Order: sequence, then structure tokens, then C-alpha cells
Amino acid sequence: MALTTSKNILITGAAGFIGFHTALSLAQRGDRVVGYDNFNDYYSPQLKYDRCQLLKKAGIEVIEGDICDTSKLKHYVKANKITHLVNLAAQAGVRYSLIHPQSYVKANLEGFVSVLETCKEQPGISLVYASSSSVYGLNRKIPFSIEDRTDQQASLYGATKKANELFAQTYHHLYGIPVTGLRFFTVYGPWGRPDMAYSLFTKAILSDEPIEIYNYGKMLRDFTYVDDIIQGILAAIDREAGCDLFNLGHHEPVELLEFIQTLEEYLGKTAIKVFKELQLGDVPETFADIRESTRSLNFIPKVGMREGLAKFLDWYREYYQV
Ligand SMILES: NC(=O)c1ccc[n+]([C@@H]2O[C@H](COP(=O)([O-])OP(=O)(O)OC[C@H]3O[C@@H](n4cnc5c(N)ncnc54)[C@H](O)[C@@H]3O)[C@@H](O)[C@H]2O)c1
Repeated sequence: MALTTSKNILITGAAGFIGFHTALSLAQRGDRVVGYDNFNDYYSPQLKYDRCQLLKKAGIEVIEGDICDTSKLKHYVKANKITHLVNLAAQAGVRYSLIHPQSYVKANLEGFVSVLETCKEQPGISLVYASSSSVYGLNRKIPFSIEDRTDQQASLYGATKKANELFAQTYHHLYGIPVTGLRFFTVYGPWGRPDMAYSLFTKAILSDEPIEIYNYGKMLRDFTYVDDIIQGILAAIDREAGCDLFNLGHHEPVELLEFIQTLEEYLGKTAIKVFKELQLGDVPETFADIRESTRSLNFIPKVGMREGLAKFLDWYREYYQV
């Protein structure tokens, strides 16, 4: 059943890529939104501050705070009479988790328990949180379905996201908190993260620097345009939840080389390609089974790779003045 009355929503990670778009869309449709973010320097904090400038113009305040600071989080949830908490704050990135494991333990495990403890003390609050396609880890059954095994992880990042799903289920069982986990598949678009391959490739191609292509280009990614992801997040917020999990992916994997060729075509330049073997922690293919998401969330991805990439590049050229 869809609940459509106006809501008071706190978004953690609101200065981040997906949090920023979520906050804007919710405010545009009339919900009251408060952001919460620690503005860490995993990538340029300036990009986060610039996103917040736009949020401010839309009437959205982003409080500087860490999700691990439970008393601060609890204070803002209470003070703003929050009805829905959307947890998008996390240490993201698969490769970085090989070299900085502790930052994943801190933000994704300790931080997530703090979010759950906050929900526990606020009767009636609903939680929507970010999981990831990474939880499918070593699963080779295609497309990835919610029913598939997720007990063999390929990276510590994936393991922390899987732990989030288990923690959420536990708090739902113990305290009845309505929880919805969303497994995002490679999200891209304007205001996107500079650490992700599509941003790194764009930067390198424009400055004639080589790009590293893993698994010799034989990687398939279910690239999902950010506006489609936001539709899924909004539908999850509006739905009366129990303890649910959904895939949010485009359901149309694209080969990495085709993705790079499209970038080359749009940028009018040829990439200097360095082919490498599959990196530790990476998986060769992601592909979302979205039948349940379509049924329950009316999730129907609309933006294909060519259209989405063009929109990303329009923003990229304007923002970075290139
Ligand atoms: N972008 C993708 O392709 C993708 C795919 C799967 C899952 N996800 C998940 O979606 C969520 C949002 O991802 P994103 O791409 O917007 O990443 P992002 O890094 O742009 O956003 C995360 C935000 O959280 C903030 N943050 C990190 N640790 C924090 C903490 N301890 N306290 C408060 N704020 C903190 C960061 O400053 C950042 O602004 C993350 O949970 C990520 O793991 C993203």
C-alpha cells in the first residue's frame, strides 16, 4: 500500500551523489527533508559542498555530522520529528576496501548500528537503506535475484553491505522497525562520484592519459541512471514496509568496451587503453533481476546507457569547465 502523505525525512549521506539527488526529488514533491553528512575526503569535499549549495537553494539544510555519533543523530531525528530515515551514508567503493578496510568497518558497520539504534528509539520511523549489487559476490547465476545466495563475498565492501542486510533484519525481528534494503547496481549520472570508472575514464580521455581496463574489457555492468534509482528510492519510502529487499538495476548489462566506445564517440577522442586482468575484489558481471522491484515498487528503468552517458557528460563539461 502506498503512503502518500507529506513526510519528514532525514537522509544520511545527503551531500553524496545519490543522497543529493534523493533529497532534491523529495523536496520537489513536497516532503520535508533534512540532510546529514560528515563531508569526508574520500573524494573532493568541494563537490559535496557544491551539491549542498543547490540543496540549500531548495530549502534543504545538511547538518555536518557522523552517523557513528549516535547521540547527535538521535537528537536531529527527534528534533525534526523524523518519520523516515534514508541511510545512504557509507564508505563506498570496492577497490578502496582492499587498502582501507577499517574505514568500511567504521562507517558501514558501526555507523549502520548507530542508525538502527536511532530508529529503535523513535517509534513508527521507517528505514530505507542502501545495499549494493556487490552483495552477490561470487554468485554466478545470472540475472542476480533476491533469492540467490549471498554468502560468498568477493570484497570487504560487499561483506559490509551484506552485514547491513543482516543487521536490518535483526532489528526488524527484535523491535519491529520497518526496513527496506535497496541493492543499487552501478549508479551513474550528473553530479556523479569522481572515484567511479565512468568519471575516471572521462577525465583520463579528456587529458590524454591512459585508462586501465580490467578483465581485458570483458566486464559486464548493469549501469543504472541515477533518476531511475531515485524513482525506486521514492517508491520504497512511500511503501508500507515489513522487512524487504529489492534490486535496483537497469536490467540491461553493457560490456565495458562498448561503454568506453560510447564515451570516445561523445568526447570525440580515442582512449589510450591499457588492458589488465580482473582485479582482486571485482566480479566480471552484474545483472539485476528486477521482476519483484517492478511488481512491488513499480520500478521501471527508463534511461538507457547512451542517453544517460550523454546527460552525465553535459554536466561534467559544465561543472569541470572542460
Ligand atoms: N553509486 C553507486 O554505484 C552505488 C552502488 C551500490 C551501492 N551504493 C551505495 O549507495 C550509497 C550512496 O552512494 P553514493 O554513490 O552516493 O556515494 P557517496 O560517497 O557519493 O555518498 C556517501 C556520502 O556519505 C557520507 N558519509 C560517509 N561516511 C559517513 C559517516 N560515517 N557519517 C556521515 N556521512 C558519511 C560521505 O561524505 C558522502 O557524502 C552508499 O551506501 C553506497 O555504498 C552506491
